[in-house]
Amino acid sequence: AQLRLLAFAGSLRRESFNRRLIPVLAEGARAAGAEVSLIDLRDYPLPVYDGDIEAAGMPENVYRLQDLLAEHDGLLISTPEYNGSMPALVKNTLDWISRPTEPGPSGTTLFRGKVAGIVSASPGPLGGLRSLLVLRDALAKLGLVVVPQQVAVGQAGERLPETGMLADERLRAGVHGVGAAVAELAFRLKGGVDER
Ligand code: FNR
Repeated sequence: AQLRLLAFAGSLRRESFNRRLIPVLAEGARAAGAEVSLIDLRDYPLPVYDGDIEAAGMPENVYRLQDLLAEHDGLLISTPEYNGSMPALVKNTLDWISRPTEPGPSGTTLFRGKVAGIVSASPGPLGGLRSLLVLRDALAKLGLVVVPQQVAVGQAGERLPETGMLADERLRAGVHGVGAAVAELAFRLKGGVDER
């Protein structure tokens, strides 16, 4: 069966550097044989998590994201860094997905055993590196296997002038490497044959 990965940026901003980086990450995974679905979290707006909202009726976008997760073997995420951590958008999205699914079981079961690859981009010199530490930990706690490879793209204003264009060969190879590592590990965990 075809290996499928779900990719999204942890920013809603239209000119987001992380949004521009996602196609580069996807390219690496595709070169390693995976099919990649690119989604925009703008299309899945969610309120800040509130147990009262959940009790009154799960937002439809939670079920839509849970269904997407169930259909994919792993995640590719490019995250901004906000005050040394991951943006609330990313944590909020993960938290909502972890809530009970429509058939009943907890959404955390959907994450378990899936593979994730993470990168970051920031106009600053460290490229959002600190957000990767926090996101890696959060994903691991949800039961995902996060590949050790990761890349933080600093000076993103110069290096990511447009979508899919990462103007630094070494960093581009690194981001491709993260995508490829996710595809390769997911293939192995699926017990399938790498069909390249
Ligand atoms: C930031 N930014 C930022 N950058 C960074 O490298 N380290 C940081 O700790 C922070 N903190 C921070 C907090 C808040 C509240 C905002 C709004 C921004 C700057 C951030 O990297 C920049 O806005 C990026 O452009 C955000 O990513 P996108 O939207 O371009 O993908």
